[in-house]
Amino acid sequence: MKRFSTQDFLHKKTDGQKITVLTAYDFPTARMVDEADINAILVGDSLGNVVLGYETTIPVTLDEVVYHTKAVVRGSNQAMIIADMPFLTYHTGTADALRHAGRLMQEGGAQAVKLEGGQERVEVIKAMVDAGIPVMGHLGLTPQSVHQLGGFKVQGKTESAAKRLLEDALALEEAGVFALVLELIPAVLAKQITDKLKVPTIGIGAGVGCDGQVLVIHDMLGFTSNKTPKFVKKYCNLHDQIGNALKKYKDEVENGQFPGEEHSIVHQNEPDLPKLY
Ligand code: KIV
Repeated sequence: MKRFSTQDFLHKKTDGQKITVLTAYDFPTARMVDEADINAILVGDSLGNVVLGYETTIPVTLDEVVYHTKAVVRGSNQAMIIADMPFLTYHTGTADALRHAGRLMQEGGAQAVKLEGGQERVEVIKAMVDAGIPVMGHLGLTPQSVHQLGGFKVQGKTESAAKRLLEDALALEEAGVFALVLELIPAVLAKQITDKLKVPTIGIGAGVGCDGQVLVIHDMLGFTSNKTPKFVKKYCNLHDQIGNALKKYKDEVENGQFPGEEHSIVHQNEPDLPKLY
């Protein structure tokens, strides 16, 4: 089956259809996301937070994203797979960035990569696009810069910050990104940026005016008991459902209810068992 492509991203914007994106980091989750006809799967460096137990995305390595991308590619057929470029894999020069993005595509099997930052990334994005690497931009709250931003805070709240974000968005479009993630910025600003760009915007905590939406799958499925940001809608509560199933299993093993006959091998005619004594 043909995968969703960068051209499909553009066509959806032109046709006024919303684009759906979710993160996934492993084979079974990717399979479910793919079966739900979600347009694209982001193997985000959020895997550091929700899968590997880090407090930020900063410790996530390129090897880790390559490893998880491979599993996601194996689990999907139709979704476009976008792999996140980890902290410092695209900041030390164009040659490094090309080599690292190349690993995500050649070894990982991703169709595109995502990186964070504005005008300061233009040179590297142009080089990647020239090399045939589709690049998704990421503006607003850029978690790899959390220590510089002073925490996970709403961005673009002042007039000058909003102006800078718009300029960054236009510069990224000019550099050749096929889409742009807008994270944790006022909805009105996200809508203004969306209206100014030809390429689609994918919002997370950026309101309904974006061309599409992305969420971290563990957050929207309620996989952890952690407090989630206001912009996350929990579509189910897997933490409680899984917790209840685990408690039930423990009780049933301890009181001899599991395994019952239906989960045991019972022959009509008992085979001749070897004599042990
Ligand atoms: O790493 C990630 O999952 C992301 C999304 C939150 C956009 O960058």
